[in-house]
Amino acid sequence: MKADANAEVMSTGKARDLREWLAHLEATQRLAVIREGVPLEHRLAAIAKRLDGAQAAYFPRPGGHDIPVVSGFVSRRAWIAEAMGVEQAGLLAAFRKAVEHPLPWREVDAGAACQQVVHRFGQDEQELDLHTLLPIPTHSEHDNGPYITAGLVIARNPVTGVQNVSINRIQVHGRDRMAILMLPRHLLAFYQAAEANDQPLDVAVVIGADPLTLLASQAITPIDHDELEIAGALHGAPLPVAKCLTSEVRVPANAEIVIEGKLLPKLREPEGPFGEFPKYYSAQENREVIVVEAVTHRYNPIYHTIVPAEMEHLLLGSIPREATMLAHLQRSFPGVLDVHLSVGGVGRYHLYVKFRKQREGEPRNVILGAFGAHYDIKQVTVVDEDVDVHDPQQVEWAVATRFQADRDLIVISGAQGSVLDPSTTVGYTGDGVAPPHLQGISAKMGLDATKPVAYHGHVFTKVRIPGETEIDLDQEIVRGAAIDWSNVTVRT
Ligand SMILES: Cc1cc2nc3c(=O)[nH]c(=O)nc-3n(C[C@H](O)[C@H](O)[C@H](O)COP(=O)(O)O)c2cc1C
Repeated sequence: MKADANAEVMSTGKARDLREWLAHLEATQRLAVIREGVPLEHRLAAIAKRLDGAQAAYFPRPGGHDIPVVSGFVSRRAWIAEAMGVEQAGLLAAFRKAVEHPLPWREVDAGAACQQVVHRFGQDEQELDLHTLLPIPTHSEHDNGPYITAGLVIARNPVTGVQNVSINRIQVHGRDRMAILMLPRHLLAFYQAAEANDQPLDVAVVIGADPLTLLASQAITPIDHDELEIAGALHGAPLPVAKCLTSEVRVPANAEIVIEGKLLPKLREPEGPFGEFPKYYSAQENREVIVVEAVTHRYNPIYHTIVPAEMEHLLLGSIPREATMLAHLQRSFPGVLDVHLSVGGVGRYHLYVKFRKQREGEPRNVILGAFGAHYDIKQVTVVDEDVDVHDPQQVEWAVATRFQADRDLIVISGAQGSVLDPSTTVGYTGDGVAPPHLQGISAKMGLDATKPVAYHGHVFTKVRIPGETEIDLDQEIVRGAAIDWSNVTVRT
């Protein structure tokens, strides 16, 4: 990936590492310190969920563990914009700029913070156990035990050596064993390349990364684009990285905790059920396995957990996707002004597109373009430029008043959708879970909710009262006034 010397410095200096961001949230009353010793099973996630979108939750001595847990520190769109140092309206453009102008990372020679304490499995400390070493919560009712939900999985392409970063759910089911869900993206491609040669794939699972590196991990880029370079661009400075102790993988040097391990070839073990972002459980299936070789961490590390399906989970995925969708659509359709993946559509499935239409038919092209941009997109609604795509009520109003199902609806059946959408499983009539090649079969729905380019009179003129937006209510309301209802007079 080529660096660009003109990449804009965006860092606010509030989120250079996790601790700096947490201190900033605390100073602005957005971090709730929870009582000591909250149980790691369910209780911790329940409290974090209740605070989701309002305050980050900091849990000292969770389950009696020395390492504190934090959750929900990027659970509002405005907080993410703040960490990036931009206005909310400029969020997608700023993220896109970072993707287009990555900054190569800077390797620190020695003494990386994330390696201040080292535990080597299978050597000096035979009895090490991930379950006791780290405070790993169990989140939802039917989850199959503790899961790492905020781990950045970093691996190198076995052919080119270029790194990839993603977040993957990881079930810790043994002293040194973890099963991982890899949907068909770059990490899986690296693993398959290694496995074809009967080789393991070195991985690092980074827990407690700063907000901008977490966000960068979700960039949708071609293979061999290292998301740590996008993190550098978001920070406005090359990201300091450290070489792992057991492999060539480079990890953010200021991260809190790093698990080093290997994805083993030709091995699958049961993983799941697990409560996922659509707010349903993934069934148990056999998945690839990581064997842990070392855990390194800062002095007094902080463990990050993401409560699945809550705002931190949805936003981390949806904002980078929106930025990618916007760039993708604008390449073909200059009339596309904004996009939004709605929260009700779990930040993945339902895309709203704001479009300046000049010719009839154009919204249909936009809908088809959006379906091709990401297999998760299940429903696309195109609206005019007078509709705020971040306001679901306005979008529904446009559908209610500008859309006719027999004329403006596109349905494409039998396409590939999200394997985590439970409605895609209904068509499978075999026993148990469908084999991978039959999972995620989904219909796509497009709604053209734009008004006609030309119409008669005021048929499509939005009702407006002259002066409504300019009125200063403080000038109009008489504060402290009361009405005497016996003679209906106003007393001031
Ligand atoms: C909290 C969270 C959990 C995620 N869990 C998984 C997962 O278990 N498996 C997966 O394949 N992708 C998961 N993702 C999505 C990937 O991290 C994301 O698609 C990433 O961009 C893939 O990287 P790549 O395109 O460079 O391979 C998750 C995303 C978030 C924000």
